[in-house]
Amino acid sequence: MIGIGCDHGGYELKKEIEAYLDQRGLEYKDFGCDSTEAVDYPVYGKKVAHAVASGECEKGIVICGTGIGISITANKVPGIRAALCTDCFSAQATREHNDANVLALGGRVVGVGLALKIVETFLDTPFSGDERHMRRVRMIEEN
Ligand code: RB5
Repeated sequence: MIGIGCDHGGYELKKEIEAYLDQRGLEYKDFGCDSTEAVDYPVYGKKVAHAVASGECEKGIVICGTGIGISITANKVPGIRAALCTDCFSAQATREHNDANVLALGGRVVGVGLALKIVETFLDTPFSGDERHMRRVRMIEEN
């Protein structure tokens, strides 16, 4: 199950991503928002992040205008490794190296075509499992 959420700046891109997930037959849970009416991105970033951290969702996708505010929000939740991506190389590397569990996108930054390729790359790339990457991922949660 993929958790997906956005603010008004990400709403239109979210609908495109949901159509893509439908086309692939991938299950998702939409945590809002539900229109382009102005809302506060932390509300939706937290909902998705908590769903991933609790195990309700395996991965999350969060979208705001830039992707910045909602990724900062998601990364405040313990266990969340949210990666703001604007290219496919980063989407692949953050799965392989960081085992990122939330993808953040900027609805006012990336076009739909690129965004869908980033989503595809993020969802289809496994964590490498290499010892050095596992060690570094563990270190993220240490104080
Ligand atoms: C909303 O106008 C905008 O600030 C928000 O979507 C996001 O870009 C914040 O980081």
